[in-house]
Amino acid sequence: MSKNVLVVGGAGYIGSHTVLALRDAGFGAVVYDNFSSGHRDACFGDALVEGELSDTAHLTRTLETHDIACVIHFAALIEAGQSVLTPLPFFENNVAGTLSLLAAMNAAGVSRLVFSSTAAVYGNQAGAPLLPETLPRDPINPYGDSKAMVETVLERCVPAHGLRAIALRYFNASGADAEGRTGERHDPETHLIPLVIEAAQGKRAQIRIYGTDYDTPDGTCIRDYIHVSDLASGHVAAVSHLLAQEAPGFQPINLGTGAGQSVREVIDAVRRITGREFAVSEDPRRPGDPARLIADATRAGEVLGWRPRHSDLETIVRDAWAFAERARS
Ligand SMILES: NC(=O)c1ccc[n+]([C@@H]2O[C@H](COP(=O)([O-])OP(=O)(O)OC[C@H]3O[C@@H](n4cnc5c(N)ncnc54)[C@H](O)[C@@H]3O)[C@@H](O)[C@H]2O)c1
Repeated sequence: MSKNVLVVGGAGYIGSHTVLALRDAGFGAVVYDNFSSGHRDACFGDALVEGELSDTAHLTRTLETHDIACVIHFAALIEAGQSVLTPLPFFENNVAGTLSLLAAMNAAGVSRLVFSSTAAVYGNQAGAPLLPETLPRDPINPYGDSKAMVETVLERCVPAHGLRAIALRYFNASGADAEGRTGERHDPETHLIPLVIEAAQGKRAQIRIYGTDYDTPDGTCIRDYIHVSDLASGHVAAVSHLLAQEAPGFQPINLGTGAGQSVREVIDAVRRITGREFAVSEDPRRPGDPARLIADATRAGEVLGWRPRHSDLETIVRDAWAFAERARS
């Protein structure tokens, strides 16, 4: 069997790190991207195909031409807050776009897929200390809905289409390639660590903490931060698993550390590591922010033999800071 992987959305943040990891592991990687949020200087594949997720014929030709054995699908609109204001493009790109990709895979006879899902499919599971994959999907915004819908589609397509699929549910992706080849460059940026780093760089006047009265040790929200290079190795493990898998099937797998850091801990870590001071304001809670979101990461270890190696807060912040400083110079 070929070892070529089509990485749809491979010019983006998590995709570009995954392409590097695939190539390091001896896979061929073809990047397919429309550059709506990706970066041309973050394409590290053996080949680059510029194209739209909705272009089923172009995708089919790409799968056939490059003898693709497995697809990793990162391409999506990703901003949960924006999805509340303008839900339709999220359903169009994330759901209809994935249907187009599945049709192309069907036409080209490719049955193996790793799908970028998210902890947002869990919604606000009050009280659950760790989130196992067995919890019901219960998203609270159109972005999470779009990912949960695709998971349902994948599940339902298994028997009819012989699909072998894994949905990797990422917790908070963060950090950057340790060699500085790629990193986080979302526009607009909404993720905490790059925002705090921008404040440390003086690009942002202050950092807002939304809610200091949560039922957590320091009153601020706790999230499970996972280094993007650990996410990348999780994809390599998922591809290897699917290539060895004979029987059709679908399973969701969390990629997180099983531990959490609070907003204040992140801010303190950035201050300590960068040696920079910046203003912090304490604001009211935002609606829909759960106090804790922490993965139960057991299944990823059991099924994929994966565990995070770079996801301590020091390494995450150090790598993210080094990339941000390099990008500025
Ligand atoms: N960043 C996170 O913390 C996080 C957390 C959970 C899940 N995810 C999921 O991981 C995936 C990747 O996230 P990211 O942070 O790397 O985002 P990103 O925006 O950096 O990457 C997405 C890539 O997909 C491409 N793309 C988008 N729509 C496309 C289309 N219609 N046709 C072709 N290419 C298209 C973009 O140009 C970009 O290169 C997304 O599916 C996202 O929902 C991300």
